[in-house]
This record gives sequence, structure tokens and C-alpha cells, in this order.
Amino acid sequence: IDRYCVFGHPIGHSKSPTIHAAFAEQTGEHLEYTAIEAPLDDFAGAWRAFVAEGGRGANVTVPFKEAAFALCDTLSERARRAGAVNTLILGGNGLSDDFKVYGDTTDGVGLVRDLKRHEVRLAGARILVLGAGGAVRGVLEPLLAEAPSSVRIANRTAAKAEALADDFGDLGTIAGGGFETVGGGFDLVINGTSASLAGDLPPLPDALFAPGATAHDMMYGAAPTVFLRWAAERGARPVDGLGMLVEQAAESFFQWRGKRPDTAPVREALRRAL
Ligand code: ATR
Repeated sequence: IDRYCVFGHPIGHSKSPTIHAAFAEQTGEHLEYTAIEAPLDDFAGAWRAFVAEGGRGANVTVPFKEAAFALCDTLSERARRAGAVNTLILGGNGLSDDFKVYGDTTDGVGLVRDLKRHEVRLAGARILVLGAGGAVRGVLEPLLAEAPSSVRIANRTAAKAEALADDFGDLGTIAGGGFETVGGGFDLVINGTSASLAGDLPPLPDALFAPGATAHDMMYGAAPTVFLRWAAERGARPVDGLGMLVEQAAESFFQWRGKRPDTAPVREALRRAL
């Protein structure tokens, strides 16, 4: 049996085994998908041991995405740009006997697919991204590939937003700064900060949204995040990160197995279980 897993530390809370088991059943793919807690100081060793036991590919989550990036022989352009890998694939599609390791990052494409599913227009849109950490870096290449009119990055530490904008400046109109200078009239605002985890809201102006705007939070939970509540009160349509989670998983599954699962029933089941 072809084996896959998700590596993280901690990993107990991961929904990935449930999601991939549902995808496998739906597509008739015979595979096993488990969660593995890798040691903090030896991600590469954990991956090698997994491959020796029949592992064909893996998802990678916090805090190993950079370590996974470092061990790849080949990287997708979006992974190279992200500086992080959430999908490891053995031998290209994982089904050959080529022991080269290919790395991809599917978070950004997952975000874009979920936004499109919500009929959010990205081409020509004015987009604001909150945060300038790894989560944001991971989605910028696929977002810019949709040809928005502009992307603004706002972060508590302004210099990090400016540096990130510089790194992606060749892919489109992108600028960075602090929350004070953010401006307004955005068609789409994506919260990629970890502020929601602490129940915090970045200091944002009331006139942030254009009419018909969408607010997306990469986080999700049983109740809307502070950011999504704040956005809904100002007329924006709230979208949480559950859809992105399922779409990034579907893209990883496609990279491994060449089949695209139907994400709707999986998303609905997860939503009911929140
Ligand atoms: P991740 O991999 O989740 O992106 P990270 O790289 O540590 O994690 O980045 C966390 C992001 O959330 C950063 O943009 C951080 O802002 P700083 O760069 O100024 O640290 C942001 N962040 C975390 N807590 C926040 C808070 N309470 N208010 C606003 N921004 C916050």
C-alpha cells in the first residue's frame, strides 16, 4: 500500500488524515495516510525513515515547512517563492521508483480555489493582505498570478511587509507597510496574521472595504474569528479558512495521485464537526 502522512509538532489536532481518507475513498485510491510527530531537531531523519517504510509523499505543517524545503531536490516555482514546502512528493508523482524528492506548496492555490468557489473576482481586484509571516509568503505567488490590480501587505512590523513586497515585486504591483498607512477601498482583505489565535484584531480603519468586498481569514473555528466579525459589521462578506484547508489538501492529493477529489462533501462534514 502507498503510504502518505502529515508531519508536524504537535500533530494531534490535524484534520489532514480525515480529509485524505475521505478523498481516497471518494476516488477509489488505495492508500494509507497517517499523522507523524517528527522530532523538532531531525525532520530529515523522520522523512527518510518514512520513505524507507514505503512512504510516497507527505504533507508538512508547523514547524517543519522550511526544513522540508531544505531537503528537496526539485521545487515548484510557488514553493521556491514561498521558501517553504507543505507537500513532499517522492519521484515526481510519487508513483515511480525515482527517489528524488519534489517539493510543492499548495496553500496559495488552495486559497485561490476557495475564493473562486465563493465567486470572488481576483483579476483587477484591489487586495489587502494582513501579516507578513510564513503563511502570507506562502500564498503571494498564486494570488499575484490572478492579475489583481494591486496587492498591499500590512503588518505590525512594517519593515517585514516592505521586505516581502520587495521579494515579490517582479510578479505584480505590490507594496508593503504598517497598519497606519493601509488606506481603504479594498475588494478583498485576507487576514494571514496569527492575531486571531489570540483573539486580537489588528488596528484597521473603518473604511477598509469597497462595496461588495470579501474578508477572508486563514483561521477558522466553530465561531467566526474576531476579524471576520469586525469585517461583517462593516459590510464585507466573511469567508473563513476551512475551505482553504480542504482545497490545499485536494491539490496535494492531486499532486500525488493525479485525481481531483470533490471537496464539497468533505468541507461540509468538517464544518458540521467543528
Ligand atoms: P505564520 O507562519 O503563521 O505566518 P509567523 O511567521 O510567526 O507565523 O507570522 C505571524 C504573523 O502574524 C506576523 O505577520 C505577525 O506580525 P509581526 O511580523 O509584526 O510579528 C502577525 N501577528 C501575530 N500576532 C499579532 C497580533 N497580536 N497583532 C497583529 N499581528 C500579529
